[in-house]
Amino acid sequence: MQKVIDNALIYVKEIFEKEYSGHDYFHTLRVYKTATSIAIKEKANLQVVQIAALLHDIDDRKLSPLTHKNKDNARKFLLNNGVSLQVINQICDIIEEVSYKGVNCESVTSIESACVQDADRLDALGAIGIARAFAYGGANNRVMHNPEIEPKLNMNVKEYRAHISTTINHFYEKLFNLKDLMNTSTAKAIAKEREEYMKDYIARFNAEWQGEK
Ligand code: ADP
Ligand code: NI
Repeated sequence: MQKVIDNALIYVKEIFEKEYSGHDYFHTLRVYKTATSIAIKEKANLQVVQIAALLHDIDDRKLSPLTHKNKDNARKFLLNNGVSLQVINQICDIIEEVSYKGVNCESVTSIESACVQDADRLDALGAIGIARAFAYGGANNRVMHNPEIEPKLNMNVKEYRAHISTTINHFYEKLFNLKDLMNTSTAKAIAKEREEYMKDYIARFNAEWQGEK
């Protein structure tokens, strides 16, 4: 399996070479590292977690809509690397469970999914989370902030996907929900600290916006 992991590292570097919307190679690398450390603490199957983390975005709904449903890129890569059908299905199930589906989404069905989902969500928090949100907003022509547009809270998956908002509203509409959606206690502790940092940032942003700082 170590060879599969090494090949996956090379493969995702190629795939994400020209992707700047916040889902880049380095996002994948951070998720891989964070998922690894969570998996060790949670005693999950380390190699399954590592491969799923490395491949988690290659069939993303937004980046690769045509391969998203059946995870064609992940399946092809794993087949070419001699992985058994059983493990391929296990990894594709994890990838399917990782993506954010609104506040009332189903929970994960394995500890391996929990590790990868937590690692992916942690990367949307903290200093990096702030940077990714603005990078995404810029890449998708979204306005940074408009005080006349209220955030829409508690959206289900359908509403969330159809909703067009500002980047600052995204903090309230998604990012501040993530702490309570973490599966593992390891990720919950990191998320708590990262959310506090983001709330301080928003307070400062608003103060500067009002001309108070
Ligand atoms: P997932 O990792 O669940 O696929 P997304 O594709 O929704 O998550 O998000 C990837 C990154 O882009 C995250 O850092 C997220 O905060 C950011 N992002 C997603 N949607 C928006 C948005 N509407 N405005 C600003 N940032 C966004
Ligand atoms: Ni991701």
